[in-house]
Amino acid sequence: MMRAFQVTEPGTIQPIEKEMPAIQRADEVLIQVKRVGICGSDLHIIHGSNPMAVYPRVIGHEVAGVVEAVGSGVTEVCLGDRVVLEPICSCGECYACRIGRANVCEKLQVYGVHRDGGCQEYMVLPVRNLHRLTDHVDISEAALVEPFTIGAQANWRGGVQKGDVVFIIGAGPTGLCCLNIAKAKGAICIISDLSEERLAFARQWGADHTIHAASVDVCAEVLRLTQQMGANIVIDAVGSPTLVEDAVHVASVAGRVVTLGFSEQPSQLTQVDMTKKELTIAGSRLQTDQFPQVVQWFNDGTIQPGEMISHHFPMEEIQSAVRLIENEPNRVRKVLLHVNE
Ligand SMILES: NC(=O)c1ccc[n+]([C@@H]2O[C@H](COP(=O)([O-])OP(=O)(O)OC[C@H]3O[C@@H](n4cnc5c(N)ncnc54)[C@H](O)[C@@H]3O)[C@@H](O)[C@H]2O)c1
Ligand SMILES: [Zn+2]
Ligand SMILES: [Zn+2]
Repeated sequence: MMRAFQVTEPGTIQPIEKEMPAIQRADEVLIQVKRVGICGSDLHIIHGSNPMAVYPRVIGHEVAGVVEAVGSGVTEVCLGDRVVLEPICSCGECYACRIGRANVCEKLQVYGVHRDGGCQEYMVLPVRNLHRLTDHVDISEAALVEPFTIGAQANWRGGVQKGDVVFIIGAGPTGLCCLNIAKAKGAICIISDLSEERLAFARQWGADHTIHAASVDVCAEVLRLTQQMGANIVIDAVGSPTLVEDAVHVASVAGRVVTLGFSEQPSQLTQVDMTKKELTIAGSRLQTDQFPQVVQWFNDGTIQPGEMISHHFPMEEIQSAVRLIENEPNRVRKVLLHVNE
């Protein structure tokens, strides 16, 4: 038997004992889970505000571990390798899958949401859902690969290129991952937040300009900073309906607006703003094919995510970790659970 933490129903997280998983197919790998990052979407599952979640559920989709055993057909990873989980499973047949956009598969299943995730000592996974890191990547930092793939996807959806001006709304973990990758691509980055603490960290992490949204007219400031051009790419990493309106307003001609939020409230957008500037408005959900590039950036040191981790807890203290994130969001960047040392 092994230890796991399960959200039995909204509002209740409980330690449970689970059967040790066993390899059943040639393409499967047994991993010992080492670290799991806690993300906003985990909190939604805990509180019952993620309509996609199915209960009871072992949460955790930001997972780093070590290979314990491999199926007979596995050649990509070996015993002892450090690996990260690519948490999406797709049908391979629907329109999205056929055009290489498996992240929005009609039958999408995500580990930690629709299937049991990383808050358990061991997992058996198809090898195609695992990516190998070199041994010098710290195992705690490895758990951040998944959130960085979210940032990579948003940059890809926005077509961010060297020299572009990127305005990121929100300097939470998601906005910071978008920032780090936009900087790696050679963009000029403006980022806004309501929290001075989060903006201070964003500056330390390479933001060229920060905007304190609680005290400044954000749209006017973006236009001022860009000599009235606006931002070529605006990434909404907050997800409130009025911010999409701001994003369309401050996007430059031929600009791209990328949305990451899941708000069900309508935004007021006028056609003229979109047509006149010929804007592209792109949703960005999870990621497609971003793991190899992000893993390479972790391996070669292009991304050095260590400072993004603000807290560590043993898995047994998941409740305290959740309370900390909820009570002191501005002190927290990424919280990691240690499942096995
Ligand atoms: N599409 C995806 O694949 C995906 C993946 C991960 C997260 N998300 C979404 O991204 C968003 C951010 O996630 P997170 O984990 O960083 O959340 P978070 O709550 O930690 O961070 C949000 C940040 O936005 C700031 N903020 C709030 N209102 C603002 C405003 N008006 N202007 C500027 N900043 C403001 C907050 O101060 C906070 O720092 C959420 O909506 C989440 O659901 C989407
Ligand atoms: Zn996440
Ligand atoms: Zn599909």
